[in-house]
Amino acid sequence: MIKSLAYLGVISPQYKEWETFGPEVLGLQLAGHGADGAVRLRLDDAAHRISIHPGARNEIAYIGWSVKDEADAKAVAERVAAYGLDVARASEVDSAQRQVEGFYWFRDPSGFRHELSWGQVHTVAPLRPGRPVSGFRTGEQGLGHVVLAVSDLAEGDRFYREVLGFHQSDTVKDGELQAHFYHINGRHHSLAISSLPTRQPAFLHLMIEVNALDDLGAAHDLCEQRNIPITTTLGRHSNDHMTSFYMYTPSGFRLEYGWGGLDVDHDLWIPRIYDKPSSWGHRRQHKELTALMSVDSPAQ
Ligand SMILES: [Fe+2]
Repeated sequence: MIKSLAYLGVISPQYKEWETFGPEVLGLQLAGHGADGAVRLRLDDAAHRISIHPGARNEIAYIGWSVKDEADAKAVAERVAAYGLDVARASEVDSAQRQVEGFYWFRDPSGFRHELSWGQVHTVAPLRPGRPVSGFRTGEQGLGHVVLAVSDLAEGDRFYREVLGFHQSDTVKDGELQAHFYHINGRHHSLAISSLPTRQPAFLHLMIEVNALDDLGAAHDLCEQRNIPITTTLGRHSNDHMTSFYMYTPSGFRLEYGWGGLDVDHDLWIPRIYDKPSSWGHRRQHKELTALMSVDSPAQ
């Protein structure tokens, strides 16, 4: 019953840098500030979808999902509670900060804070991207996708499918790498999970998708011109066909900038196993910069 990825919040001492990084590099629109000074960014009709909150260190704060309405949010929340996790209903003040009508929230078995929101505020004001882009692929497919390193891959797989209702798209098994990909709408995956050798939970990346290959190329040029580290070179993923590269954001996490992702039809889809994550490219570099955001903050 979770319909799409609605929004994402991170905490970062470098939050102010997003006032230029977001519009000028990513092509997002600056959408004002939160009560704590958070930099809010917009990429479609939703009032904002990305918030970078001020804080002492880089951390993933919350992952916001859209459900149809309050009753659906409650139904998912009850399943989470039955699994044995604490679930809380957000205050009106917190809901207003997210620009949604309301949400329930909980921490998953790895400690990631998820929010089950309904009634996301959309605005009729036309999008004003920070640089010329033909727009972002969102709508029913939501903000994009997030990839998490969970503490226990088998437990995570069970939790996201059986409790939260994510549908398996496929699994990549390549040597040490094993990752599960899940869809909840036409986007091949809104969530993927993997596991690090340390079993430490970590936020691995956020993907946003542009409408045109040239938008992707322009971002690639900008990263080179501004010496923004490209942590994974241009390439194409085997499973969702996304042509993309990954850049290092000012807040210590990687952002995948993609184009041309595969649509899936849930009724026809048969989960697959892939032997490689990419069909070409996607060479990891600047491995020293792929520092991972921790998730152990009780804040936000
Ligand atoms: Fe990705």
